[in-house]
Amino acid sequence: MSDELYTAVDSYLDELFGGPDRVLAATLERSAAAGMPQIAVSPNLGRFLHVLALARGARSILEIGTLAGYSAIWLARALPADGRLISLERDPKHAEVARQNIAEAGLSDRVEVRVGRGLELLDELSDEGAGPFDMVFIDADKAPYTEYFHSALRLARPGTLIVADNVVREGRVALGPGDDEAVTGVQRFNAALAADERVAAAIVQQVGAKGHAGMAFAVVRAAAGANGGS
Ligand code: SAH
Ligand code: DHB
Ligand code: MG
Repeated sequence: MSDELYTAVDSYLDELFGGPDRVLAATLERSAAAGMPQIAVSPNLGRFLHVLALARGARSILEIGTLAGYSAIWLARALPADGRLISLERDPKHAEVARQNIAEAGLSDRVEVRVGRGLELLDELSDEGAGPFDMVFIDADKAPYTEYFHSALRLARPGTLIVADNVVREGRVALGPGDDEAVTGVQRFNAALAADERVAAAIVQQVGAKGHAGMAFAVVRAAAGANGGS
């Protein structure tokens, strides 16, 4: 009953803003046709990420977990013409579909999809001297979320906005430790985030078409050591 209501409200909100445009609809259709998991952020949360990137005035964004490029398109649409989004994806098939979707969205000039294991690609970015990024969106496998966060901090500067998806797991984060590494992974991340004095952070639970979920938001503080790694 409540799930139906949450879904109805999500649809209502999405339709208020005109529903999916041709590019975003085609993005999801292509990912379904390719047999990919349908776990992109919801339309309303995609829109929210877009607004956050604009609010931040982001010119450089890092995403960990591309899937079919749905969230990447929402984020990249907030970039100025000379802005840049780098998105990291382990699965070459996902990356291929994402690149096609990003091309169809007319955003290939500002989006780069890199294929590999997230933690290795993050180390490569550090070695290259990439960043600092204005915004980081963490949305890949959940077990190493804490390590993604620490890598994000190394690629950040004061004012960088770090967002992490899926930090509530249908409410299971509140039910104590279990044997699901996705749940324990985000519990460990949530605790690390809350305790980290280098950031001002909040975690917000959400209901919607994708159930009971949550996102974490953190801004890197200006204090000394904010850019000094983990
Ligand atoms: N951000 C996307 C959804 C990402 S789903 C959106 O909202 O549209 C999670 C993605 O992370 C999947 O495509 C999965 O293949 C990828 N992934 C899983 N483990 C990874 C890892 N270790 N490194 C990089 N990507 C990974
Ligand atoms: C899963 C991953 C996601 O990023 C998401 O938003 C929902 C589910 C998953 O791995 O199950
Ligand atoms: Mg997610």
